[in-house]
Amino acid sequence: MIYDELINRIVSRKAKVGIIGLGYVGLPLAVEFAKKGFKVYGIDVSKERVSDLNKGNSYILDVSCDELKRVVKSNNLTATTNFSILKELDAIIICVPTPLRKTREPDISYIISAAKEISRYFNKGKIVVLESTTYPGTTEEIILPLLRLNSLKEGKDFFLAFSPERVDPANKDFKTANIPKVVGGVTAECTKIAKMLYGQIVKEVIGVSSTKAAEMVKLLENTFRSVNIGLVNEIALMCDKLGIDVWEVIDAAKSKPFGFMPFYPGPGLGGHCIPIDPLYLSWKARMHGFEARFIELASQINSQMPHYVVEKISSGLNKFKKSINGSKILLIGVAYKKDVNDMRESPALEIIKILRDKGGLVNFYDPYVNKLKIDKAEINSTKLNKSFLKNQDCVVIITNHTKIDYKFILDNSRVIIDTRNALKGFPKRANVIKL
Ligand SMILES: NC(=O)c1ccc[n+]([C@@H]2O[C@H](COP(=O)([O-])OP(=O)(O)OC[C@H]3O[C@@H](n4cnc5c(N)ncnc54)[C@H](O)[C@@H]3O)[C@@H](O)[C@H]2O)c1
Repeated sequence: MIYDELINRIVSRKAKVGIIGLGYVGLPLAVEFAKKGFKVYGIDVSKERVSDLNKGNSYILDVSCDELKRVVKSNNLTATTNFSILKELDAIIICVPTPLRKTREPDISYIISAAKEISRYFNKGKIVVLESTTYPGTTEEIILPLLRLNSLKEGKDFFLAFSPERVDPANKDFKTANIPKVVGGVTAECTKIAKMLYGQIVKEVIGVSSTKAAEMVKLLENTFRSVNIGLVNEIALMCDKLGIDVWEVIDAAKSKPFGFMPFYPGPGLGGHCIPIDPLYLSWKARMHGFEARFIELASQINSQMPHYVVEKISSGLNKFKKSINGSKILLIGVAYKKDVNDMRESPALEIIKILRDKGGLVNFYDPYVNKLKIDKAEINSTKLNKSFLKNQDCVVIITNHTKIDYKFILDNSRVIIDTRNALKGFPKRANVIKL
C-alpha cells in the first residue's frame, strides 16, 4: 500500500526530501533533514543561492558555513535550480515567499508557480507540504486541484498538508529542531504522514484537523503579535502625552507572573511576517463579508510609528534650534530587528525616506547591513568614529543590535533618540530622548 510504503521510507530515512525555496525558512529546514540522514534536494530559482549553497557558503546568519559544509560534503544536501528532480522525491516542502501586492492584497504567485512545477513532475506516493504563510484555504483551493491531475486521489495516491513555519531568526534558544511543529492534512492519512515526516526532525508535532486550521494557527500567532505591538505602541503614545516612561511601566507590569506578557514599543513593524501575514487574514475575511477590525487598527497604529519617530527627531533637533532640513542625522541599526541582516519591511526605510523628503542628510551604521537602497539612491553603512559621531546633529537608535557599543555612542553624540530603550543600563542623560 502506498501509505505504508511512504511511512517506511520516512521512518527508515530513505525518503528523499525536497525543499522548494531556500531562504530564512527553507535553508534551516533543509539542513535539519540533511543532518538527520535524509537525502535532501534544495530547489531555488536563484542561481546565485544554489551556487553558494553547493560551495557551503551560507547567506543565512542562523545557518553556519561549517554546519552547511558538513551536509554538503556528505552529499546529504544538494541545491539545484532544476525542478525535474521533483520526479524522484518522496517528500516536497514549499517554503517560497508570500508578499503583498502594491494594492496590499496577498501575492500567492510564488506558491502557484512552485505548485505548478510539482504538478508537472507529480506521480503516486509523494507527500507535499506547504509551509509558506498564507490565508486559510490556500492548500485546498490552490494546491490540491493541481495535484489531483491524472485522477490521483489525496489520502490514497498522494498526501498533502500545511505546516506553518515558526522560525524566529537570531533566536538563540529556539531553532527549527526544538520549535514544536503544527500540521494539518487534507485527510487524516495526510496529517499522519506529515506528522511522521516532521517527527524525524523536531521533538513535538501537533496535528490539527485540516489544512485550513493549520493555516489559521500561523495567522493567529502573527496577528496576536501585531495587535499586541499595536496596543503597546498606542500605550507608548499615551504615556508620552502623560509624561510617563512607558519602558518603566512595562518592566514593572511584567513582574506579574500570570495574565500579562510583555510587548515593547518600537519604530514600527518589520520583517516578512508580522506586517504582512495579518493582512492575508483580513483579506480572506473580507471575501466572506467580515471586517477584521483589530487587524486593521493595529496595522494603522503600527504604520504610524515611523512618523512618530520623525516627530521625536524633530523635537530633539529643536532643542538646538535646528530643523530636519539640512541636519546631519545618523541612524544606528537599520535591519528590521536585533541581530539580523534582514531589511525586509524595515521601518528604517520609511524613516529615512521621510527624513530625506524633509531635507535631512541621513547616514546609517549597521554592523549587519553594508548598504541599502532608498528610491534609486544607494546609501552605504558608515564607520563609527568619534569625530563622525560628534559631527552629527542627531543620532537615532532604530535597531538595538547586541554588538553595538552604546557607551561610545552615548559619550560622543549631541542628541540621541532611543526607539528601543537600548540605553537602559546607563544613567539618565538630558540629551537622550526615549520613545
Ligand atoms: N523569515 C521568517 O522569519 C519567516 C518565519 C515564518 C514564516 N515565514 C514564511 O515562510 C515563507 C518563506 O519566507 P522566507 O523568509 O524564507 O523567504 P526568503 O525570501 O528568505 O526565501 C524564499 C526563497 O524562495 C526562492 N523562490 C522564490 N520563488 C521560487 C520558486 N517559484 N521556486 C523556488 N524557489 C523560489 C527565493 O529565491 C528565495 O531563496 C514565507 O511565506 C514567509 O511568510 C518566514
